[in-house]
Amino acid sequence: MSSSTQTSPIHAEQEACAEDETNPELYQHFANLVSSLPTSEGLSNNQFHRHDQGWYCSLVPIVGAMVADACFTARPSDIIVATLPKSGTTWIKSLLYATVHRREHPVDAIDHPLTSFGPHSCIKFFEYQLYTRNKIPDLDKLPDPRLFATHVPFVSLPRTIAASGCKIVYVCRDPKDHLISQWDFANKFRVMSQLEPLSVEAAAELFCSGLSPFGPFWEHVLGYWHAHLARPQQVLFFRYEEMQKDPAKHVRRLAEFVGHPFGVGEEEDGVVDAIVRLCSFEHMSGMEVTKSGRTDLVVGTVENSSFFRRGAVGDWTNHLSPETARRIDAITARKFKGSGLISI
Ligand code: A3P
Repeated sequence: MSSSTQTSPIHAEQEACAEDETNPELYQHFANLVSSLPTSEGLSNNQFHRHDQGWYCSLVPIVGAMVADACFTARPSDIIVATLPKSGTTWIKSLLYATVHRREHPVDAIDHPLTSFGPHSCIKFFEYQLYTRNKIPDLDKLPDPRLFATHVPFVSLPRTIAASGCKIVYVCRDPKDHLISQWDFANKFRVMSQLEPLSVEAAAELFCSGLSPFGPFWEHVLGYWHAHLARPQQVLFFRYEEMQKDPAKHVRRLAEFVGHPFGVGEEEDGVVDAIVRLCSFEHMSGMEVTKSGRTDLVVGTVENSSFFRRGAVGDWTNHLSPETARRIDAITARKFKGSGLISI
Protein backbone atom coordinates (compact mmCIF):
# COMPACT_ATOMS: atom_id res chain seq x y z
CA MET A 1 0.00 0.00 0.00
CA SER A 2 1.25 3.47 -0.75
CA SER A 3 0.97 6.60 1.40
CA SER A 4 0.34 10.02 -0.03
CA THR A 5 3.35 12.31 -0.06
CA GLN A 6 1.09 15.31 -0.63
CA THR A 7 -0.28 15.08 2.90
CA SER A 8 2.99 14.01 4.48
CA PRO A 9 3.77 15.98 7.63
CA ILE A 10 7.43 15.67 6.65
CA HIS A 11 6.81 17.55 3.42
CA ALA A 12 4.70 20.15 5.23
CA GLU A 13 7.62 20.73 7.59
CA GLN A 14 10.18 20.89 4.81
CA GLU A 15 8.06 23.51 3.07
CA ALA A 16 7.43 25.47 6.27
CA CYS A 17 11.13 25.51 7.16
CA ALA A 18 12.45 26.10 3.65
CA GLU A 19 12.75 29.82 4.19
CA ASP A 20 13.37 30.04 7.89
CA GLU A 21 14.04 33.43 9.35
CA THR A 22 17.28 33.85 11.20
CA ASN A 23 18.09 35.81 14.32
CA PRO A 24 21.87 35.74 14.88
CA GLU A 25 21.62 38.39 17.61
CA LEU A 26 19.33 36.24 19.74
CA TYR A 27 21.59 33.20 19.34
CA GLN A 28 24.63 35.31 20.16
CA HIS A 29 22.91 36.72 23.23
CA PHE A 30 22.25 33.23 24.61
CA ALA A 31 25.69 31.98 23.54
CA ASN A 32 27.27 34.79 25.58
CA LEU A 33 25.07 33.89 28.52
CA VAL A 34 25.89 30.18 28.33
CA SER A 35 29.60 30.94 27.93
CA SER A 36 29.48 32.72 31.26
CA LEU A 37 28.05 29.64 33.03
CA PRO A 38 30.29 27.18 34.91
CA THR A 39 31.93 24.51 32.76
CA SER A 40 33.22 21.03 33.42
CA GLU A 41 34.61 18.05 31.58
CA GLY A 42 32.14 16.59 29.10
CA LEU A 43 31.56 13.02 28.07
CA SER A 44 32.21 13.37 24.36
CA ASN A 45 34.13 15.96 22.37
CA ASN A 46 32.77 19.16 23.95
CA GLN A 47 32.92 20.47 27.48
CA PHE A 48 29.71 20.76 29.49
CA HIS A 49 28.14 24.03 30.57
CA ARG A 50 25.86 24.05 33.58
CA HIS A 51 22.48 25.56 32.69
CA ASP A 52 21.24 27.87 35.40
CA GLN A 53 18.41 25.40 36.05
CA GLY A 54 20.99 22.82 37.06
CA TRP A 55 21.58 20.56 34.05
CA TYR A 56 24.63 19.93 31.90
CA CYS A 57 25.17 19.93 28.18
CA SER A 58 27.49 21.32 25.55
CA LEU A 59 27.01 24.93 24.47
CA VAL A 60 25.11 24.63 21.19
CA PRO A 61 22.14 22.53 22.40
CA ILE A 62 21.76 24.71 25.51
CA VAL A 63 21.58 27.78 23.28
CA GLY A 64 19.04 25.98 21.06
CA ALA A 65 16.93 25.14 24.12
CA MET A 66 17.01 28.78 25.22
CA VAL A 67 16.02 30.01 21.77
CA ALA A 68 13.18 27.46 21.71
CA ASP A 69 12.04 28.73 25.10
CA ALA A 70 12.04 32.29 23.78
CA CYS A 71 10.42 31.63 20.40
CA PHE A 72 8.34 28.44 20.39
CA THR A 73 4.58 28.80 20.81
CA ALA A 74 2.94 25.54 21.80
CA ARG A 75 -0.55 24.50 20.78
CA PRO A 76 -2.82 22.30 22.91
CA SER A 77 -2.71 19.72 20.09
CA ASP A 78 1.10 19.41 20.09
CA ILE A 79 2.74 16.21 21.28
CA ILE A 80 6.25 16.41 22.71
CA VAL A 81 8.58 13.42 23.09
CA ALA A 82 10.84 14.05 26.09
CA THR A 83 13.72 11.75 27.01
CA LEU A 84 17.26 11.64 28.19
CA PRO A 85 19.50 10.66 25.28
CA LYS A 86 19.98 6.89 24.97
CA SER A 87 16.75 6.07 26.76
CA GLY A 88 14.68 4.85 23.81
CA THR A 89 14.04 8.15 22.01
CA THR A 90 14.35 6.60 18.55
CA TRP A 91 11.87 3.89 19.49
CA ILE A 92 9.23 6.12 21.08
CA LYS A 93 9.48 8.62 18.21
CA SER A 94 8.80 5.77 15.78
CA LEU A 95 5.88 4.39 17.77
CA LEU A 96 4.33 7.83 18.20
CA TYR A 97 4.73 8.81 14.55
CA ALA A 98 3.36 5.49 13.27
CA THR A 99 0.41 5.66 15.69
CA VAL A 100 -0.61 9.27 15.12
CA HIS A 101 -0.20 9.21 11.33
CA ARG A 102 -1.56 5.70 10.69
CA ARG A 103 -4.49 6.97 8.63
CA GLU A 104 -2.52 9.01 6.08
CA HIS A 105 0.44 6.61 6.29
CA PRO A 106 -0.78 3.02 6.62
CA VAL A 107 1.70 1.04 8.64
CA ASP A 108 2.46 -1.39 5.80
CA ALA A 109 3.09 1.35 3.18
CA ILE A 110 6.39 0.71 1.43
CA ASP A 111 7.04 4.46 1.34
CA HIS A 112 6.12 5.02 4.99
CA PRO A 113 7.98 8.16 6.21
CA LEU A 114 9.74 6.14 8.91
CA THR A 115 11.12 3.88 6.23
CA SER A 116 11.96 6.70 3.82
CA PHE A 117 13.31 9.31 6.24
CA GLY A 118 13.89 7.64 9.62
CA PRO A 119 12.49 8.58 13.05
CA HIS A 120 14.75 11.58 13.69
CA SER A 121 13.55 13.28 10.52
CA CYS A 122 9.92 12.44 11.26
CA ILE A 123 10.04 14.01 14.74
CA LYS A 124 12.76 16.60 15.19
CA PHE A 125 14.53 17.81 18.31
CA PHE A 126 14.08 21.47 19.24
CA GLU A 127 17.66 21.92 20.43
CA TYR A 128 19.48 19.76 17.86
CA GLN A 129 17.51 20.25 14.67
CA LEU A 130 14.91 23.04 14.73
CA TYR A 131 16.42 25.88 16.78
CA THR A 132 19.95 25.69 15.37
CA ARG A 133 22.31 27.71 13.17
CA ASN A 134 20.58 31.03 13.95
CA LYS A 135 17.23 29.75 12.59
CA ILE A 136 13.82 30.72 13.88
CA PRO A 137 11.65 28.12 12.12
CA ASP A 138 8.09 29.05 11.25
CA LEU A 139 6.44 26.09 12.98
CA ASP A 140 3.06 27.85 12.96
CA LYS A 141 2.58 26.69 9.38
CA LEU A 142 2.62 23.03 10.37
CA PRO A 143 -0.70 21.18 10.49
CA ASP A 144 -2.04 19.61 13.69
CA PRO A 145 -0.95 17.53 15.41
CA ARG A 146 2.64 18.76 15.47
CA LEU A 147 5.14 16.29 16.92
CA PHE A 148 8.42 17.51 18.43
CA ALA A 149 11.17 16.09 20.61
CA THR A 150 13.51 17.37 23.25
CA HIS A 151 16.03 16.14 25.78
CA VAL A 152 15.76 19.12 28.14
CA PRO A 153 14.53 18.59 31.71
CA PHE A 154 10.90 19.38 32.47
CA VAL A 155 11.81 22.62 34.21
CA SER A 156 13.50 23.95 31.04
CA LEU A 157 10.86 23.03 28.47
CA PRO A 158 9.73 25.98 26.36
CA ARG A 159 7.39 27.64 28.82
CA THR A 160 4.38 27.73 26.51
CA ILE A 161 4.32 23.90 26.57
CA ALA A 162 3.11 23.70 30.17
CA ALA A 163 0.72 26.59 29.65
CA SER A 164 -0.81 25.09 26.49
CA GLY A 165 -1.66 21.80 28.18
CA CYS A 166 -0.22 19.89 25.21
CA LYS A 167 0.79 16.25 25.67
CA ILE A 168 4.25 15.13 26.76
CA VAL A 169 5.43 11.55 26.36
CA TYR A 170 8.44 10.66 28.53
CA VAL A 171 10.55 7.50 28.47
CA CYS A 172 13.05 6.57 31.15
CA ARG A 173 15.50 3.71 31.30
CA ASP A 174 17.58 1.83 33.84
CA PRO A 175 20.44 4.25 34.59
CA LYS A 176 23.06 1.53 34.12
CA ASP A 177 21.87 0.64 30.61
CA HIS A 178 21.44 4.34 29.83
CA LEU A 179 25.04 4.95 30.93
CA ILE A 180 26.46 2.15 28.77
CA SER A 181 24.50 3.31 25.75
CA GLN A 182 25.59 6.93 26.35
CA TRP A 183 29.22 5.94 26.88
CA ASP A 184 29.31 4.03 23.60
CA PHE A 185 27.62 6.89 21.70
CA ALA A 186 29.87 9.58 23.24
CA ASN A 187 32.96 7.60 22.27
CA LYS A 188 31.86 7.74 18.64
CA PHE A 189 32.01 11.55 18.85
CA ARG A 190 35.39 11.38 20.61
CA VAL A 191 36.82 9.16 17.89
CA MET A 192 35.44 11.51 15.19
CA SER A 193 37.31 14.35 16.93
CA GLN A 194 40.50 12.30 17.24
CA LEU A 195 40.12 12.03 21.02
CA GLU A 196 40.93 8.92 23.01
CA PRO A 197 37.81 6.90 23.84
CA LEU A 198 36.72 7.25 27.46
CA SER A 199 36.98 4.18 29.67
CA VAL A 200 33.72 2.91 31.11
CA GLU A 201 35.02 3.67 34.62
CA ALA A 202 35.71 7.30 33.67
CA ALA A 203 32.24 7.60 32.11
CA ALA A 204 30.66 6.08 35.23
CA GLU A 205 32.54 8.53 37.45
CA LEU A 206 31.21 11.50 35.46
CA PHE A 207 27.72 9.98 35.43
CA CYS A 208 27.64 9.46 39.21
CA SER A 209 28.73 13.10 39.66
CA GLY A 210 25.70 14.15 37.61
CA LEU A 211 27.82 15.00 34.59
CA SER A 212 25.90 13.47 31.72
CA PRO A 213 24.13 15.18 28.81
CA PHE A 214 20.94 16.85 30.13
CA GLY A 215 21.67 15.19 33.48
CA PRO A 216 21.97 14.60 36.34
CA PHE A 217 20.05 11.50 35.29
CA TRP A 218 18.00 11.26 38.50
CA GLU A 219 16.81 14.88 38.53
CA HIS A 220 15.74 14.55 34.88
CA VAL A 221 13.64 11.46 35.59
CA LEU A 222 12.19 12.91 38.80
CA GLY A 223 11.21 16.15 37.05
CA TYR A 224 9.02 14.34 34.52
CA TRP A 225 7.82 11.80 37.11
CA HIS A 226 6.50 14.55 39.37
CA ALA A 227 4.93 16.30 36.38
CA HIS A 228 3.24 13.00 35.48
CA LEU A 229 1.91 12.59 39.03
CA ALA A 230 0.65 16.17 39.10
CA ARG A 231 -0.84 16.14 35.59
CA PRO A 232 -1.35 12.56 34.35
CA GLN A 233 -3.51 13.81 31.48
CA GLN A 234 -0.62 15.92 30.20
CA VAL A 235 2.46 13.78 30.92
CA LEU A 236 2.65 10.08 30.10
CA PHE A 237 5.50 8.13 31.69
CA PHE A 238 7.05 5.05 30.09
CA ARG A 239 9.84 2.75 31.16
CA TYR A 240 11.99 1.25 28.41
CA GLU A 241 12.12 -2.10 30.22
CA GLU A 242 8.33 -2.36 30.46
CA MET A 243 7.97 -1.42 26.80
CA GLN A 244 10.34 -4.27 25.94
CA LYS A 245 8.22 -6.74 27.92
CA ASP A 246 4.92 -5.88 26.23
CA PRO A 247 5.26 -3.31 23.44
CA ALA A 248 1.66 -3.73 22.19
CA LYS A 249 0.25 -2.81 25.61
CA HIS A 250 2.29 0.38 25.61
CA VAL A 251 1.34 1.28 22.04
CA ARG A 252 -2.32 1.11 23.16
CA ARG A 253 -1.51 3.32 26.17
CA LEU A 254 0.23 5.78 23.88
CA ALA A 255 -2.63 5.85 21.38
CA GLU A 256 -5.23 6.43 24.13
CA PHE A 257 -3.15 9.16 25.69
CA VAL A 258 -2.65 11.14 22.49
CA GLY A 259 -6.33 10.84 21.58
CA HIS A 260 -5.99 8.30 18.75
CA PRO A 261 -7.22 5.04 20.36
CA PHE A 262 -7.44 1.94 18.22
CA GLY A 263 -10.92 1.01 17.06
CA VAL A 264 -12.33 -2.52 17.18
CA GLY A 265 -11.75 -2.91 13.44
CA GLU A 266 -8.13 -1.86 13.78
CA GLU A 267 -7.61 -4.31 16.61
CA GLU A 268 -9.13 -7.07 14.47
CA ASP A 269 -6.91 -6.09 11.56
CA GLY A 270 -3.79 -6.35 13.75
CA VAL A 271 -2.80 -2.68 13.40
CA VAL A 272 -1.23 -2.56 16.88
CA ASP A 273 1.00 -5.53 16.17
CA ALA A 274 1.89 -4.07 12.78
CA ILE A 275 3.06 -0.85 14.49
CA VAL A 276 5.09 -2.86 16.99
CA ARG A 277 6.71 -4.79 14.13
CA LEU A 278 7.39 -1.67 12.02
CA CYS A 279 9.12 0.01 14.99
CA SER A 280 10.91 -3.03 16.37
CA PHE A 281 14.66 -2.90 16.81
CA GLU A 282 15.09 -5.77 14.36
CA HIS A 283 13.06 -4.09 11.63
CA MET A 284 14.32 -0.56 12.10
CA SER A 285 17.99 -1.47 12.38
CA GLY A 286 17.75 -3.33 9.08
CA MET A 287 16.10 -0.50 7.10
CA GLU A 288 18.13 1.08 4.32
CA VAL A 289 17.66 4.57 5.82
CA THR A 290 19.27 3.24 9.01
CA LYS A 291 22.09 1.41 7.30
CA SER A 292 23.13 4.19 4.93
CA GLY A 293 21.38 7.38 6.15
CA ARG A 294 22.76 10.16 8.34
CA THR A 295 21.16 12.72 10.66
CA ASP A 296 22.43 16.25 11.16
CA LEU A 297 22.28 16.98 14.89
CA VAL A 298 24.08 20.37 14.77
CA VAL A 299 26.82 19.06 17.10
CA GLY A 300 27.76 16.59 14.37
CA THR A 301 26.30 14.51 11.59
CA VAL A 302 25.76 10.99 12.82
CA GLU A 303 25.14 7.76 11.01
CA ASN A 304 21.58 6.61 11.62
CA SER A 305 22.93 3.19 12.50
CA SER A 306 24.52 4.71 15.63
CA PHE A 307 21.05 5.01 17.18
CA PHE A 308 20.81 1.21 17.13
CA ARG A 309 23.31 -0.78 19.17
CA ARG A 310 21.89 -3.79 21.06
CA GLY A 311 18.41 -2.65 22.06
CA ALA A 312 18.54 -4.97 25.05
CA VAL A 313 17.74 -4.76 28.74
CA GLY A 314 20.61 -5.46 31.12
CA ASP A 315 23.56 -5.06 28.75
CA TRP A 316 25.28 -3.16 31.57
CA THR A 317 26.26 -6.53 33.08
CA ASN A 318 28.70 -6.92 30.16
CA HIS A 319 30.48 -3.64 30.93
CA LEU A 320 30.10 -2.43 34.52
CA SER A 321 31.89 -3.91 37.51
CA PRO A 322 29.58 -5.16 40.30
CA GLU A 323 30.99 -2.39 42.48
CA THR A 324 30.09 0.37 40.02
CA ALA A 325 26.65 -1.14 39.49
CA ARG A 326 26.08 -1.16 43.26
CA ARG A 327 27.22 2.45 43.46
CA ILE A 328 24.71 3.53 40.80
CA ASP A 329 21.94 1.48 42.43
CA ALA A 330 22.67 3.13 45.77
CA ILE A 331 22.45 6.61 44.27
CA THR A 332 19.21 5.67 42.52
CA ALA A 333 17.69 4.29 45.73
CA ARG A 334 18.68 7.42 47.65
CA LYS A 335 17.49 9.91 45.01
CA PHE A 336 14.20 8.14 44.26
CA LYS A 337 13.35 7.40 47.90
CA GLY A 338 9.82 8.50 48.71
CA SER A 339 9.05 9.46 45.09
CA GLY A 340 6.99 6.37 44.30
CA LEU A 341 9.48 5.65 41.53
CA ILE A 342 10.88 2.38 42.73
CA SER A 343 13.59 0.44 40.93
CA ILE A 344 13.78 1.27 37.25
P1 A3P B 1 21.58 0.40 23.41
O1 A3P B 1 22.74 1.29 23.19
O2 A3P B 1 21.49 -0.12 24.81
O3 A3P B 1 21.48 -0.70 22.42
P2 A3P B 1 18.02 6.81 21.94
O4 A3P B 1 17.09 6.46 20.86
O5 A3P B 1 17.38 7.55 23.09
O6 A3P B 1 19.27 7.43 21.44
O7 A3P B 1 18.44 5.42 22.62
C1 A3P B 1 19.24 4.50 21.94
C2 A3P B 1 19.05 3.17 22.60
O8 A3P B 1 17.78 2.64 22.25
C3 A3P B 1 20.08 2.17 22.13
O9 A3P B 1 20.25 1.27 23.22
C4 A3P B 1 19.37 1.54 20.95
O10 A3P B 1 19.90 0.29 20.59
C5 A3P B 1 17.97 1.42 21.50
N1 A3P B 1 16.95 1.38 20.45
C6 A3P B 1 16.91 2.08 19.29
N2 A3P B 1 15.84 1.75 18.58
C7 A3P B 1 15.17 0.83 19.29
C8 A3P B 1 13.97 0.08 19.05
N3 A3P B 1 13.27 0.22 17.94
N4 A3P B 1 13.57 -0.78 20.01
C9 A3P B 1 14.27 -0.95 21.14
N5 A3P B 1 15.43 -0.28 21.41
C10 A3P B 1 15.86 0.59 20.50
